[in-house]
Parts: sequence; C-alpha cells; structure tokens
Amino acid sequence: MTTATKELARNEHIKDASRYLRGTLAEGLQQEITGAIVEDDQQLVKFHGMYLQDDRDLRAERGKKKMEKAFSFMIRLRIPGGVCTPQQFLQVQHIAQVYGNDTMRLTTRQTFQLHGIIKSNLKATMREIDDALLTTIAACGDVNRNVMSVTNPLQSRVHAQAYETGKAISDHLIPETTAYREIWLDGEKIVGSDEEVVEPIYGKTYLPRKFKVVIAVPPSNEVDVFAHDLGYIAILNEDGNIEGYNVTVGGGMGMTHGQPETYPRTADVMGYCKFDETVKIAEAVLTVQRDWGDRTNRAHARLKYTIEDRGLDAFRAEVEKRSGVKLDAPKPYIFDSMSDRYGWTESENGNGHLTLFVQNGRIRDIPGGPQWMTGLKKIAETLQGEFRLTANQNIIISNVQPDQHWDMDKLVAQYKLTRDASPVRKNSMACVALPTCGLALAESERYLPDLITEIEERLASHGLTDNEIVIRMTGCPNGCARPYLAEIGFVGKTPGKYNMYLGAAFDGSRLSKLYAEDLDHKGIVATLDPIFAAYKNERQEGEHFGDFTIRAGFVAPTSNGADFHVNTGAKRTA
Ligand code: HEM
Ligand code: SF4
Repeated sequence: MTTATKELARNEHIKDASRYLRGTLAEGLQQEITGAIVEDDQQLVKFHGMYLQDDRDLRAERGKKKMEKAFSFMIRLRIPGGVCTPQQFLQVQHIAQVYGNDTMRLTTRQTFQLHGIIKSNLKATMREIDDALLTTIAACGDVNRNVMSVTNPLQSRVHAQAYETGKAISDHLIPETTAYREIWLDGEKIVGSDEEVVEPIYGKTYLPRKFKVVIAVPPSNEVDVFAHDLGYIAILNEDGNIEGYNVTVGGGMGMTHGQPETYPRTADVMGYCKFDETVKIAEAVLTVQRDWGDRTNRAHARLKYTIEDRGLDAFRAEVEKRSGVKLDAPKPYIFDSMSDRYGWTESENGNGHLTLFVQNGRIRDIPGGPQWMTGLKKIAETLQGEFRLTANQNIIISNVQPDQHWDMDKLVAQYKLTRDASPVRKNSMACVALPTCGLALAESERYLPDLITEIEERLASHGLTDNEIVIRMTGCPNGCARPYLAEIGFVGKTPGKYNMYLGAAFDGSRLSKLYAEDLDHKGIVATLDPIFAAYKNERQEGEHFGDFTIRAGFVAPTSNGADFHVNTGAKRTA
C-alpha cells in the first residue's frame, strides 16, 4: 500500500484542523476546573514550546484520593546556538523561581527547560519570556526545533560564523503563524485563509515529525552532528574562516523497545555546500521531508526513514533541484571527541571562556553542595560577556574580559560551582525522565549520578580512573540524551531495569549495539566490571573503550541504523 492510500496519523488531522496551531488553546486556558488541557490541544501546545505533564511521584497517592493528577507544564525555550545574555539568564531564572519549580534544566540541545508551571501561570510566564526577547515557538512539535551550534571557546571568529549560519537557518525556518502572539501575548487575531501566505514553508500540516538542525566545527563534535536530521560540518579555508559545510542528513535517535523496524540512525554526509548556500539547502531538505515523509505512521516519520526508504541519491537529487544548489563531493574532516573543554580557555580575541560542569544540566541550589541558582545569578549580575549552553548540558561563562577572570573565579569558588569532575562523570549525560516525563519507563537524571559513583569505584579498582568513557542514560528508548552514541548507553526498560549498549565511537560517528537486557543496578555493575578488567589488560595504546569492546569481541560493530538490531546480545561475556 502506498502512503497516499493509508490512513493519516491522528496528529495529521489535529494539525489540519488547528487553524495554524490555534486549536482550542485560548479557550482551554480559561477553564479553571482543570489544570490540564484537552487532548488535541496537548499535541498543538508542543508547537508553542510546551508539554503538559504531571508529577508522577504523586500519581498513586492522588489517584487513591480521587484527585486530578498534579498537572503542570514544561516550557522549553528556543535559544539558537545556546547563546544568551546575562540579562536573559536572569529573566529566565526569575520565571523558574516565581512560576516554576525553582530549578532550571540545561538540555542536551542547548536550551533551557523549566518545569512545574501551572496552567494559571502560563500566560504570565510567556509574557515574561517575550519581555526577555526570547521565545518558545517551535521548541517542540513537528517543526524545525532549536538550531544547535558549536560553542567553540577557542576560535571566536569561527564561533561567530557558525552561529551566524545557525541563526539564519533558525530564523528562516521559524513558523509564521500569529497564533503564538495571539494566544500567549494577546496579539491581534489574524486568521488567514491562504496557507501559502500563513506558512509559506510549512503549509497547513507542518512536518510529519520533528526536525533538528546542528552546526559543528571539527575537530570537536560536541554537538553530536550525526544524531540530527540536518547537520553542517564546517570546512575552514587557509585564513581560518568557514568557507562552506559538509551537509549531513538523516540522523535521529528515537526507537521503540521490541519494534526492530524503529532504530536510531547516524546521518549520512550528503555533499558540500558553500557558506552562503546553507539556508537554501536547509529549506530544501525540510520541504522534501515535508512532502516525502511518512504521515501515516509517526514511528516511521522522521527524515532518517525517508532516506532509508528513498535512498540518499534520490534525496540529494531532489534537494539539489529544489534549492538550485549543486552539492560538491564532501571535503575531508576529522572529529576527535564529543566532550566539552572544561575550565578556562582563551579565544583568539583574548577573552576567556569558563566551562562549568553541571551534572545532568540541573541548575539548583544543592544543600551543602554547589549553589547553582544563587551562584549563576551572582555571575550573571557581574558578567559583561554572555552565557553559552553546551550540548553536554553544561554552561560556559563566555567572552569574559581578561580583567574579569578573577571576579568569576571568586564567585565560582564561593558558590562551590564545579568546573571539574572525574573523566567519566564529565562525559556522562542523563535525560530528565521521572518524575516529569510522561514517557519515562525508568529513572535517569535521579539515578545516573549514583551509578557513576559506583562505576568510578570499579574503574579505580582496575587503575582506569583517568580514562574518558562516554556514558549516557535515558528513561525510555526515545533517546533524548542520545544514549546510542555513548560508549556505554543505558536505556530504561521498566522501573529499575535498563538495557545496556556498547561499542559506539568516542567521536560520535558510530552507533552502539545492544549488549545486555533488563539489568538492575547490581547487574549493571557486575556486567561492566569484567569488561573494565579486560579493557585494562588487553587494550591497545590510545584505544577508546567503545572501539575496544568491538575489537575484543564483546559486541559487533553497528555500521548504520539499519543494522542496529542485527547481531545483538553479548558475544563475549568476560
Ligand atoms: C523520538 C521521540 C521523542 C519523544 C517523544 C521525546 C519527548 C520528550 C519529552 C516528553 C521530554 C520532556 C521531558 C521532561 O522534561 O520532563 C523530552 C525532553 C527532551 N528531549 Fe526528547 N523526545 C524524543 C526524542 C528526543 C531526541 C532523539 C532528542 C535529541 C537528540 C531529544 C532531546 C530532548 C531534550 C534536549 C530534552 C530536554 C531535556 C533533556 O535535556 O534531557 N528528544 N523529550
Ligand atoms: S528519553 Fe524518554 S524518558 Fe527521557 S526525557 Fe526523553 S522521552 Fe522522557
């Protein structure tokens, strides 16, 4: 059966009937009887940058008392390249303190998420976000999301150029519906009838699924370029300026347990374009996916499946036709890691950049530990540079004038902010999961720090303390912390149980493979320990853990998404 004759997915009807993302959101906000909104609006509100959630820790107790779930909203901002001013940081923090749960989350895609905002506070929150010259439009939903860009504290010129590319793409692909201003900011009601006028790029039903864009500058793959629908790998000319980009397409992480037709996929390098052709390419890739993507099955709707089904050559030809750009052959590039550069670095303009390590991106004051909320507030009040949010859930105090370094160091020490941790902890990442994420099957953010402590002990017992190993965990297979690109990946299966994946490349270029299923805490440690012992005894000079687990026969290599589920399970057990 062809796509045209299959029934469209339910969300397609919701989008179609939504009058460009309006639905009944405005009416739903007025209803005081419930803290929720109706189901169709729950899908639409994602396009406005928020998710309806409930506190899952309280579900059982409230259920027993026949109370409504403890509903609140998660709000995600759109911060291209993760660059924000100290003033904007303070305004977002103020919102988190007044309307949210007094914490901020640095996400794995360079933005902030705020949790715990109740319905009656939504409009005030959105007004304050707008006052800060920020927005949440298209932070979630079937649209182009926040565009990520390398933080690059070493090369200020290249950072500016990569940021310029990312920002231009972000601005070009932003939805144009006025529903956002109308619903949240009491803007004037303008309901167009001609879809070409309202949404010239997206049309009435937007995209079949989310769409994520990223800009990387080798040798750092800190932004995980191969995990994204569309990526640009900068190629520098002899003067050290970006002359163009290798274009990558078809990366994505999400899959479903037990459904092998769903799989994570690393992006293909499709060709090379010049610096000023990037926006045209972005629009063409997006519109081909808009028209070719599978709108009948959301689990098969991402660009990665379109490319698997149609083939890269056909996809490239269509992109070239629509953009009018003839892509050249990809140029050589080398990535060497995905991690951030911690501590101070100096960029070529003489300014300093201090990368702080924020465990799992959670900004809060920890009794007896780092005072992230208070400390970053003080820093923001003093800072004349900017903040950069990293794809590893960290924050960089950026563009600090040389005479301000001392002030920053003093504040970092005073509020016990961490600029360092063990090599495995610094390379670890967890998604939010419980209690807020409705899709979580197991803990992640609240569990990984303890597991890392135990892994640190095991590594120390084998004399491996100084080894960088990328470890990531998610509470479900959707993959928000990109676990399939970690050298050790944990994916929640049921409460307290995880599937363990091994064999990804340290530079983010190769996916992992399932090694063991349904491991509890003890099982994880018992399974990893002999592999660490083997790594200590058998590894070759400079060999990364992910590469070792393949060479030593623990797992088969994954060459791309389609073979992710092939040859799974432990090959060698000790
Ligand atoms: C494919 C299915 C996916 C679904 C249905 C999904 C859904 C969600 C939901 C509901 C949340 C909110 C959790 C909370 O804050 O309580 C979330 C968070 C997030 N997701 Fe996803 N997600 C998916 C895949 C991905 C992938 C593949 C990525 C990145 C490559 C990603 C990036 C993020 C980020 C950055 C956050 C913010 C929190 C964090 O940093 O962990 N998501 N996602
Ligand atoms: S990976 Fe799953 S559990 Fe974690 S935040 Fe994403 S959707 Fe929720």
